[in-house]
Order: sequence, then structure tokens, then C-alpha cells
Amino acid sequence: MKSEIEKDILKVLLSEEEIKARVQELGDALYDRFEGKKPLFLGVLKGSFVFMADLVRACALDCDLEFMALSSYQSGTSSSGRVQINYDLRHDITGRNIVIVEDILDSGNTLAFLKDYLMTKGAKDIAIVTLLDKPSRRTKAVTADLAGFTVPDEFVVGYGLDFAERYRNLPYIGVLKPEVYEKV
Ligand code: IMP
Ligand code: MG
Repeated sequence: MKSEIEKDILKVLLSEEEIKARVQELGDALYDRFEGKKPLFLGVLKGSFVFMADLVRACALDCDLEFMALSSYQSGTSSSGRVQINYDLRHDITGRNIVIVEDILDSGNTLAFLKDYLMTKGAKDIAIVTLLDKPSRRTKAVTADLAGFTVPDEFVVGYGLDFAERYRNLPYIGVLKPEVYEKV
């Protein structure tokens, strides 16, 4: 039976099972790298909220959790590269090992900004974990330390990722039907 949101999905790109298996692998890698280091996981809102919840349970490390909300100013269809902080850190991060948790690394604008920002706040070390990597669209020299899946240049939704704030609660990652874009 199709749900109210599933009817807009053209195809499933990554199933719930594939995501779960890969998130466990990422969690295991993080455990090996950060055991005993009490990392601070920093989720980039809103897109990372589902991935963050699964990842921190998959790695089962002694850690702290923080969130920031960032948005880039849009000029037409592409990001201008200027990033705005909509919700900032609430605690001192001096000397901390930070693990940035992101839903998708696209142009790289968001994470290039965030890495610089965290360094100015005194972070000791910054690692980037992204569920999805879309390298074909990169304009900034940012690479992920860990990436779940490399995806083609298609707009994807689900597992936290949205189109116009919808579809974040799909349990898998899918491609939208073109008519959904055309309606907006
Ligand atoms: P960047 O700053 O261009 O790397 O953009 C990263 C942000 O753009 C992500 O955190 C997402 O919110 C958004 N984004 C980029 N590609 C997609 C996509 O295919 N689906 C949904 N959101 C996307
Ligand atoms: Mg988004």
C-alpha cells in the first residue's frame, strides 16, 4: 500500500535495508577512529536529523551531540556560497574532536564554511561524515572523511532530505517524479 508521500516517488535509489547496513559500517569505522576520544557529533539541521539518530546509535561511542542550522543564500538555482547561521552552537568546543554529520555534500559551500567556523571556535580536529556525496556538483575543495553513498546528479529526498520541506520522513532515499517539481 502506498503512503500519502510515497505516491510522489519515481524510484527508490537507496532502500531502507541498504541504508541501515551502510550506516552500521560507518558507525563501526567511527568507533575504531574515536574510541576513547569522546567526540562531539555536530548535526547540520534539518537534513541530518534521521542520519544523526541512526549513526550515533550505530557507533555507540561515548560522545556529545550538538546541532547547528545553516542556510546558504540562493541566487537563482545555485548556492551563492554565502552561508548564514540560523541556530548556533550552545557550548564551548575548544579542544574538541568534532564529527560533522551532514545529509548530503553537494557544492561544498555549507561544509567549507562550517569547517572554517569551527576552527575559529577552537576545534582540535574536524571530521566530516556525510550520508550522500554528489561530487559532480562540487565547487569548493571539501572532501568527506566518510561518505555513505556516492549519488548521481539527481535531486533526492527521504531519510531526512527534503523538497520544499516535504518527504523528510520517507524511510528510504528516492527520486521525485518530475511533475512534483513542475507544480511548484
Ligand atoms: P552544499 O552547500 O551545496 O554542499 O549543499 C548542501 C545542502 O544542500 C544539503 O545539506 C541539502 O540540504 C541540500 N541539498 C543538496 N542536494 C540535495 C538533494 O539532492 N536533495 C535534497 N537536498 C539537497
Ligand atoms: Mg535541505
